[in-house]
Amino acid sequence: MTKTVTILNGPNLNLLGTREPEIYGSETLADIEKMCAEKASSLGLSSDFKQSNIEGELVTWIQEARANSVGIIINAAAYTHTSVAILDALNTCDCPIIEVHLSNIHQRESFRHKSYVSRAADGMICGLGSIGYTLALDAISAQLARGD
Ligand code: DQA
Repeated sequence: MTKTVTILNGPNLNLLGTREPEIYGSETLADIEKMCAEKASSLGLSSDFKQSNIEGELVTWIQEARANSVGIIINAAAYTHTSVAILDALNTCDCPIIEVHLSNIHQRESFRHKSYVSRAADGMICGLGSIGYTLALDAISAQLARGD
């Protein structure tokens, strides 16, 4: 049976490549999706990569992942800092959860230092750009092998 890792991306990440490239880099979200698909396949996993600008849609996808996925990688973007709804949804999941941010949120404005997602995540990777997503897949693969 295919082991699927759900990879969720929040608001404005659809604009990667043109959105503040000095902060978020020049790769597009499609580039990152391809990188994740290749990495997942090398680990014997498959990736289900999605993006939404709508908080409720992200909540619905977390609920689906709860039933169908072996792990969740989430860059909730600005909702990281505001969304109790996303935190509550993540708290219903038993699978490994890794939080990712392209930028180092702790070097930025103070309102970005607080993460609701971190309260539910097993770990968080930030500041490494797109590499964070592939490192998160490595982490989930290792957690699954360990039986987490
Ligand atoms: C981000 C950091 C957030 O503070 C911001 O709102 C984003 C992207 C990141 O990947 O660095 O949209 O999650």
